[in-house]
Amino acid sequence: MKTNKSVLVSGGTGFIGSHTAVELINAGYSVVIVDNLSNSEATVIDGIERITSQKIPFENVDTCDLKALRGVFERHDFDSVIHFAAFKAVGESVSEPLKYYQNNLVSFMNILELMKEFGRHNVVFSSSATVYGDADELPVTEQSPRKPATSPYGNTKQMCEDILRDCCAAYPVTHGIALRYFNPIGAHPTAIIGELPRGVPNNLVPFITQTAAGIRKELSIFGNDYDTPDGTCLRDYIDIVDLARAHVAALDRMTDGKMQQKYEIFNVGTGRPVSVLELVKRFERVNGVPVPHRFTARREGDVPSVYADPTLANEVLGWKATRDLDDTLRAAWKWQQSLA
Ligand code: UFG
Repeated sequence: MKTNKSVLVSGGTGFIGSHTAVELINAGYSVVIVDNLSNSEATVIDGIERITSQKIPFENVDTCDLKALRGVFERHDFDSVIHFAAFKAVGESVSEPLKYYQNNLVSFMNILELMKEFGRHNVVFSSSATVYGDADELPVTEQSPRKPATSPYGNTKQMCEDILRDCCAAYPVTHGIALRYFNPIGAHPTAIIGELPRGVPNNLVPFITQTAAGIRKELSIFGNDYDTPDGTCLRDYIDIVDLARAHVAALDRMTDGKMQQKYEIFNVGTGRPVSVLELVKRFERVNGVPVPHRFTARREGDVPSVYADPTLANEVLGWKATRDLDDTLRAAWKWQQSLA
């Protein structure tokens, strides 16, 4: 099966979606973006257009609205979808579970329903290392067991993976790849697009950059009594441009008809564990800027360590993380400074 090189990017104005749209265009795909701007800005479209010198068709539509989404399928002739549109705040999902189940499940089911109805073939789903929970063995491979989710957010990732697996088994037209991301950080090297958290950031790097910029007084490092080399948590930080390119590799595999199974899963990480303290120190060093920080209590729900075995993606997708962590941290700071 060889399919066309046009792709719908849901959530395409978000952090990962916008960088992926750029890399898809660089790789020769034509891109349509659908996003309801619930956690992003329309100006991101201008940024993607500036970087790529292309006009991007943009549909301001909520993917939970089946009727409106059907209109998008009617108006555009893409054969593939990359589905990013989802809520992602772990803590908020604990206090508002129905908001997460409603949004994250319905939007994905709508995409799958319309792909079936319109005979569209390929879907890449944004999954997460969160599905591995507190893994018994590190690094985690795609064969590592999924652990019971510790948040509704994490549960939506597991449920969407299962929904995709079942649809690929049931519907001849549907082919799916789930990419399990580790910790995406950084920004486009042009500093034209990057991460735009609303309010107080939940994630480490936006909190670091805002602290360095003086927007936040100090960074709390959540726990220094973990069973890790320096007592702080270990994560696998993946550059956002590298991560975006993993989507291109996944889509190339699908559009070239190279999938061995109708549903495949890949870890997208570097394979390199980095501690929270190490990341903070490294950010300070490469950017020459202090990040006031102190150790506080552990954050509920954090696992001590998780990092990827990316061998499968390296070998099967021909994808590898290439960006140097120092460059990634420089890009994150350059982006933060561009917001001033
Ligand atoms: N951290 C701090 N202080 C902060 C923010 C984070 O010390 O202000 C620490 C956390 O305790 C953790 C590390 O930095 O040890 C990374 O935290 P993030 O919130 O940036 O990322 P998580 O690893 O918690 O979560 C990320 C994604 C989730 C995904 C999960 C999968 O944000 O969407 O990885 O492991 F589910």
